[in-house]
Amino acid sequence: MDIQRRKDDHIRINLEEDVRSALTTGLERYQLPHEALPELNLMDVETQTTVFQKKVGMPLLISSMTGGTDATDRINAHLAEAAQTKKVAMGVGSERVLLEHPERTAQFRNIRKRAPDIPLFANLGAVQLNYGVKKDDVLRIIDAIEADGLILHLNPLQEALQEGGNTDFSGLSSKISKLIPALPVPLIVKEVGWGIAPKTARLLYDAGVRVIDVAGAGGTSWSEVEKHRLWDEKKQKLASSFVGWGIPTALSIELVKKEVPEATLWASGGLTNGLDVAKVLLLGASMGGMAGRLLSAAQDGPEKIIDLLDLMQEELRLAMFLAGARTIAEFQTKSLIRLV
Ligand SMILES: Cc1cc2nc3c(=O)[nH]c(=O)nc-3n(C[C@H](O)[C@H](O)[C@H](O)COP(=O)(O)O)c2cc1C
Repeated sequence: MDIQRRKDDHIRINLEEDVRSALTTGLERYQLPHEALPELNLMDVETQTTVFQKKVGMPLLISSMTGGTDATDRINAHLAEAAQTKKVAMGVGSERVLLEHPERTAQFRNIRKRAPDIPLFANLGAVQLNYGVKKDDVLRIIDAIEADGLILHLNPLQEALQEGGNTDFSGLSSKISKLIPALPVPLIVKEVGWGIAPKTARLLYDAGVRVIDVAGAGGTSWSEVEKHRLWDEKKQKLASSFVGWGIPTALSIELVKKEVPEATLWASGGLTNGLDVAKVLLLGASMGGMAGRLLSAAQDGPEKIIDLLDLMQEELRLAMFLAGARTIAEFQTKSLIRLV
């Protein structure tokens, strides 16, 4: 299967089909703190923070999605323009396509041109380290977007359901460990919507990974996405069985935080608004990421994405005000209220 056709399929399916997980994120079980007397002037509340030494408008990441075909490069262009306007961090989708089609490098370079000031992250499936991807390839994909960090994604279930998927995940933690000293930028490891368990977090931390994005369950389900690309009825049924799979985002943050309190945590998977971002910050993450929620807004241009990001920033700012926190650092000292 041609990798570029797969990229276009993924976008089409995400836009046209209901590919949500049967699980919820678990964030709905928490209430943000409310201080009727916040002892603050709303005018003084600021959502700005830093990500790898770069100033951003708020701790929100446009999660890795796509790139490498005409249609998906357009989406990335819109996302990058919005990210630059709002000064938020952004990940590009897997750049494996760039290794197989080096002629697409210019399109990836354009993403950085549109967003010169933001933290921008390269992306590759970690499993590719078992399928011929070498250190120099990784350096190329980092260079292509002048990345501030490299995100390796872990997606064993997706690969297992995909026709011809890459399912040899053996020995990967030691390959990741060997790769880290060769990288000119920090490494982040993420899931794609099924969450990170404590044992995996420990394995990653011991391998030298310092930033983990849990990318938990409760949002986009990649077994559902892959189901729509399968022709064989048996395989479709198999994919269907996993609609409720994974570790919900809130639980994954809590478990990983407990197992590796030293790690920097990012949280994504099913986040839909600024209040969800506020909640993951209070659970212990330093940034909240979103993919599915921003994809449909990215079709026509940057405007709708900017509007959404404006709304999310204001939601976060109000949540901070009502918690009595002037800065993100102050906000992170507050606690959520558990409802059940
Ligand atoms: C269209 C689309 C393409 C994606 N492609 C990638 C990818 O190439 N690499 C990656 O690490 N994650 C990829 N993801 C996963 C997201 O980064 C994210 O982890 C996941 O969708 C859960 O977040 P969400 O519930 O906000 O969508 C993709 C998600 C979407 C919606």
